Amino acid sequence: MHRTHTCGELNINNKGEKVTLAGWVQRVRNLGGMTFIDLRDRYGITQLAFNEEWDADLLAKARKTGREFVIKAEGEVIERSNKNSNMPTGEIEIHTQVLTILNASQVPPFTIEDETDGGEELRMKYRYLDLRRNPLRDNMMLRHRVNIETRNYLSSLGFLDIETPFLIKSTPEGARDFVVPSRMHEGQFYALPQSPQTFKQLLMVSGFDKYFQIVKCFRDEDLRADRQPEFTQIDCEMAFVEREDILQTFEGYLKHILKTVKGVEVDSIPRITYDEAMRLYGSDKPDIRFGMQFRELNELTQNKGFQVFDKAELVVGINAEGCASYSRKQLDALIDFVKRPQVGGGGLVWCKYNDDGTLKSSVDKFYGEEDLKEWAAAFEAKPGDLLLIMAGPTAKTRKALNELRLHLAEEAGLRKPEEFAPLWVLDFPLLEWDEDSERWYAMHHPFTAPYPEDIPLLDTDPAQVRANAYDLVLNGNEIGGGSIRIHDRGLQNKMFGILGFSDEEAKKQFGFLMDAFEYGAPPHGGIAFGFDRLVALLGGKESIRDFMAFPKNNAGRDLMIDTPATISEEQLNELRIRLMTE
Ligand code: AMO
Repeated sequence: MHRTHTCGELNINNKGEKVTLAGWVQRVRNLGGMTFIDLRDRYGITQLAFNEEWDADLLAKARKTGREFVIKAEGEVIERSNKNSNMPTGEIEIHTQVLTILNASQVPPFTIEDETDGGEELRMKYRYLDLRRNPLRDNMMLRHRVNIETRNYLSSLGFLDIETPFLIKSTPEGARDFVVPSRMHEGQFYALPQSPQTFKQLLMVSGFDKYFQIVKCFRDEDLRADRQPEFTQIDCEMAFVEREDILQTFEGYLKHILKTVKGVEVDSIPRITYDEAMRLYGSDKPDIRFGMQFRELNELTQNKGFQVFDKAELVVGINAEGCASYSRKQLDALIDFVKRPQVGGGGLVWCKYNDDGTLKSSVDKFYGEEDLKEWAAAFEAKPGDLLLIMAGPTAKTRKALNELRLHLAEEAGLRKPEEFAPLWVLDFPLLEWDEDSERWYAMHHPFTAPYPEDIPLLDTDPAQVRANAYDLVLNGNEIGGGSIRIHDRGLQNKMFGILGFSDEEAKKQFGFLMDAFEYGAPPHGGIAFGFDRLVALLGGKESIRDFMAFPKNNAGRDLMIDTPATISEEQLNELRIRLMTE
């Protein structure tokens, strides 16, 4: 037998028992005639004791082990003289009687401790070692719990877990597809699903009125901290529902997860329209853990001779509460921040509401005390506050001020990882105009239904059509999105037309779905959550990488197995693929 107990299990109640433990050597400590080995497995650490007086040969053997050796120890649980109350096994140690070295280990390339000295690249290359560290182990356990609680919740409501294929055909959902060449069908390709969108809709036509799947999705898109080329969705669809049914069901879901996994109770999830979110936060995924809402100031600030404001489409600001004491240097740093290319702001006007009640701004030349008082009133500012104002084209200015708002909140410690503030964002525009390709794109995807009352606008003013779509935002991150779907062939056809598909193309790409709509398609809708993102946020992080066992790096590479990689000439020939050379 390799082990009778795990390394996290034994305590003072086991005193006197004969046990066998197996695991990895975390640390070896030699003290005079004694040696202690911290033996680790995924459950914890137990101290093994060796004493020259008990067995000199065994002590010598223990001293020959090193970090990450795999060993087995048999012995008796004894009470420690030097207790460690910080660990569950801290009151005992093992008086070791037999020691077996199951496998030696090279010195690991980085230390397997909570705070490691390993750089990102090295840790990715030796991911299996990185996964031995407690923080990553905890992340995997958290992921498992969210997975189980998701299944519990959805299953209890009657949702069925049904698998959909991975080898499918391209569906346009915004990103590029990963394609898989077919050996048997020369010149033809499968595509890996960006999501099971069309399949889950077909399952509704089949009568499975509540579907879910915790499923891999693949998107060939630029990577960021919260994006991986293969990621996991909690994908859901329901038939005979309206938006409200879905919002209620998945509000219940998020509450269930927060409660069971984090012990956090949230009240009902607030709702905001897309337009309002853009106006108040300059973002369709606002972080509402803190205030600092935007105030639009065109009326108060224009036509006073300050050209920058006069010419601007939008003058808008935020109140950085309690920041009036910012030094010149701090203000300059904020100005530099907004001017960064990634932020894209033109500049920043500030106005201090000093503790003594006086007001001082960077544009005193154009605005007198009375003007500044009006500004302060618009922000409901108090002495000690700092107003920060930007001006320019609406979309660009909002985006930049959103970045500044998040930056200030981050600096002030207002983005607390253990605080959870979900928000529904509703009523997205159905379509987005793309200047480069001069065509409309579906903001969510082409299967999203418009509001029935907005359908006439499809012909006259497509930009004004609202989608019956919703996003669930958590702490400023989009964790889920979905919509009520079109279930009528005529309307779906019209949608494809607006998106620039000819009848023939639409039939070729989506004939199967349109046909299905001819055979009794029920009204339906759904949502998909980014599982990795949800787990990362529950773990207090915004980067999803350490919440996946084997992620890709920023360049989409797996450094451990070293892929993407070339394939052999033989494989290429078999697939009849010829590589283009320079
Ligand atoms: P959407 O494209 O909004 O909707 O995706 C749903 C959720 O998946 C997460 N997500 C990602 N997570 C990690 N890496 C990525 N590259 C990535 N891309 C998306 C986000 C997002 O909210 N079929 C629709 C859903 C529906 O309409 O029901 C869909 O896929 O958290």
